[in-house]
Order: sequence, then structure tokens, then C-alpha cells
Amino acid sequence: MIIPLCPVCGAPLSTERPAWKCENNHTFDVARQGYVNLLPVTQKHSLHPGDTAAMVASRRDFLNAGYYAPIADKLRELVAAYAPHAESVLDAGCGEGYYLSHLDLNERWGVDISKDAVRCAAVREKNAKFLAATAAHLPFADAAFDCVLSMFALTAAAEFARVLKDGGVFVQVLAGETHLSALKSVIYPTLLEKEKNLHPQLDGFTLLHGETLAFDFTLESQEAVQNLLSMTPHVWRISKEGADALKKVDRLSDRAEVIFNVYGRQKR
Ligand SMILES: C[S@@+](CC[C@H](N)C(=O)[O-])C[C@H]1O[C@@H](n2cnc3c(N)ncnc32)[C@H](O)[C@@H]1O
Ligand SMILES: [Zn+2]
Repeated sequence: MIIPLCPVCGAPLSTERPAWKCENNHTFDVARQGYVNLLPVTQKHSLHPGDTAAMVASRRDFLNAGYYAPIADKLRELVAAYAPHAESVLDAGCGEGYYLSHLDLNERWGVDISKDAVRCAAVREKNAKFLAATAAHLPFADAAFDCVLSMFALTAAAEFARVLKDGGVFVQVLAGETHLSALKSVIYPTLLEKEKNLHPQLDGFTLLHGETLAFDFTLESQEAVQNLLSMTPHVWRISKEGADALKKVDRLSDRAEVIFNVYGRQKR
């Protein structure tokens, strides 16, 4: 069983309701929805870090509609192939828990720096544990997990290597260069093609597998189009003109292009 660590002093936490507690009496309430906030004020860069409640709700609605089911299916397939005996998984930047809820490992933990995200995740999936915490300081012991995921979220490679067992697997999912090009062509006057390293080498890891999954989908309403925008980093960058142009779009056929990288944790 995985035992989370106190974010203040690093001692193991006893995980009872109504509050988790360490031997030094630092206590963390279990929220009504079941998640626990382990984010000390010193690790927050703002009052409400991470995705907002509105972004979380948009993503939940979009993912629940099944548009990204091929991504969840591919994730299951790769975890089964590369970590067939894995019992524990940590989803770092788990959002509202969609991908974690599609895996059937014994012990599933999700962390996200957004309290709104883990609140939503805890409501969705009662059989997994969700923490508000930063992926940069994971509240877990060294070599705790068999598998770590980062789905469209940050890669804190050193921290992921620390919490993974030797031979454990890190699955990284990134947006490819042509990911959502129809959406981008509505909101940006010219498309900047940024060269991105799609299969980065990571210290402490060996790249075992890299693959691109591409599939088409069609959104049939303005609401679905806005939900898609809210899930992407474009929501932070969009101009007034871009936002206005997108408000006129009631139907959008787009193509997802998603990179899956599977890394093996090297021996310590
Ligand atoms: C693009 S979303 C992806 C969410 C989810 N993995 C998915 O694909 O549906 C990125 C997520 O990373 C979270 N995040 C940002 N910085 C973080 C950090 N330092 N530690 C943990 N999560 C973080 C955000 O709150 C957001 O939920
Ligand atoms: Zn403590």
C-alpha cells in the first residue's frame, strides 16, 4: 500500500477520516468529496493555482462525451504492454480524473495543483485517491509507484524518477505538431509551426516506445467547441479576435494528433 507523506515535514501520513495526520501533528482534512489538499501555501504560486473551475467543468463535459476515448484506449493498451504487472499508478496533473478512471490497476493516485480539478476527480472516481499537490514536490516516498502518467501535463522528470520503482514505467502524452489544427486555424491569423522535440530524452529514463495516435472527430455545437478551447493552452493565449471568431463556430471537424512516449526507469 502506498503511504503519502506530510508535505510539511516529510513523515508518513495516517490516512483516516476526517483528517490525515503525521506524527508531528500536521493535519490535512479529507474534503466532503474525498480528496485531500496537501498543497502547503509555500508551494502555491497563486491563490488558486492550476486550471480554474470553469476549465475543469469544460474538460469534464468534453471528455465525458467520448471524443478522446481513443486516447484512453491507447493508454490502457500501452500500460498493459509495458507495465503488465503494475499494481500502482500515479497520474501527475490528473485534471478531473478521466484517464485514471479508465485504468484498472489496484492502487490509483491522482495529483493536480488545481483543487477544483481534484474535487471533480474525486466525485467521478471513488476508487482512486486524489490529492491537491504539485507534481514538482510529490508527497510520496522514493520508489513508491510502478507507473507514472503525465497526460497533456507537465513532465517533472527528476521527481517522476524519484517516486518510480526501478524498472517502473513513465507514460508521457503530448500534443503533436498538428494537434487540433482546425481549432488553431480559427483562432490564429497565421499558424506558427513550432519545432518541438516530440520524443525527449529524460535523465534517469530510457525511451522504450514512441508512437503517434491520430484520429478525427466532429463537434456539433458551439458549447462543445468552447469546451475544447478551454481544455487547451490556447485558452490562455487567445486574442479577442480569435475568441470572437470561435464564437461563430457551431460545428468543427478536427484531428487529434497525440504523441505517446513510454519510458523505463533506469536502475538506481
Ligand atoms: C491540460 S490539463 C490536463 C489534465 C488531464 N491530465 C487531462 O488530460 O485531461 C493540465 C493539468 O495540469 C495541472 N497542473 C498545472 N501545473 C501543475 C503542477 N505544478 N502540478 C500538478 N498539476 C499541475 C492543471 O491544473 C491541469 O489540470
Ligand atoms: Zn508533518
